[in-house]
Order: sequence, then C-alpha cells, then structure tokens
Amino acid sequence: MALRTIIDTTDETLFKKSRPVTDFNPRLHQLLDDMRETLAASGGLGLAAPQVGVLRRAVIVVNDDEEMVELVNPEIIETEGEEENYEGCLSVPGRFGLVTRPWYVKVKAQDRFGNWFEADGEDYTARCFCHELDHLEGHVFTELCDELISEEELIEIRRAEAEEDMED
Ligand code: NI
Repeated sequence: MALRTIIDTTDETLFKKSRPVTDFNPRLHQLLDDMRETLAASGGLGLAAPQVGVLRRAVIVVNDDEEMVELVNPEIIETEGEEENYEGCLSVPGRFGLVTRPWYVKVKAQDRFGNWFEADGEDYTARCFCHELDHLEGHVFTELCDELISEEELIEIRRAEAEEDMED
C-alpha cells in the first residue's frame, strides 16, 4: 500500500466526471488499498478516487459504525428528509460550509470484486455518501454553499451549539 497525494481545487481533475469501473482487477484493488491508507492518514470521513487524481467511479465512506466502506460504481437509490449542516473536504483544506443534504440515504454499489450490495446511513454518513458521490460527477461541496468559514469559526459555532444544548 502507499499514500497517494490528495489534489485540491487548483487541479482541474477534481472538476471532471469519472468513468465507471469495468475491470475488478489488481489495479483497482491497489487503488482502493491506497485510498484506505490515504484516508486513514488524513483523518477524513470519505475519499473519492478523483481526489487522488484517478477519474474512476470509486469512493470510500466511513459509515455509522466507523468502518471504511468501499463503493464502486455507486448510485443513490433512496433518500429521506433533509438536514443542513457544515461539511468540509480533504481537497478544500481548512474551509467549511453549510450544505443541505438528505437526512437518510441508501446506495447500491459494487464491491472490489464486482458484487452488488446496498448500504445506507443517516445524518453525517448520509451527508458523506452524497458528498463523495458528487466528486464522481466533478462537483465539490463549495458549489452548494453561500459562504465558507475557517476551522476556528467552525469550532466556535460547534462550541456555541454545545452550550445551547446544555441549556435545553
Ligand atoms: Ni470531498
């Protein structure tokens, strides 16, 4: 396994549409292994192949049980509700924005051997599915929010929310 370089928005690859995976071969397995290692090292909650410069439809999402789920050729098949929350992206370091996403999402995808399966998630996991699948279309979350804030501002907002919760 090897760490791959995560590209940022100065690289136009991030804004291109990814192609379907057709060969479930050792090359794909190497890509997914490297993406796992890169995601673990970054501390993020999801990573899409285009973020490491590979325009193929493969993503990794950290699910509700904090396991890494590999999704090849993923498609959203069901959504429910709506939630607005802050999100960030490893390709947009240190910047966060408010984005409205479905509260619940179910996806179907293939595993690294080509077997179809379904996965679902609520709240932040649902957000992560949507965010990573957007990357496969060449879209970045910053297109969906009005303004970006810094990590310090996000920490301050979270602190204020926690204080409000304590008062309730
Ligand atoms: Ni991202």
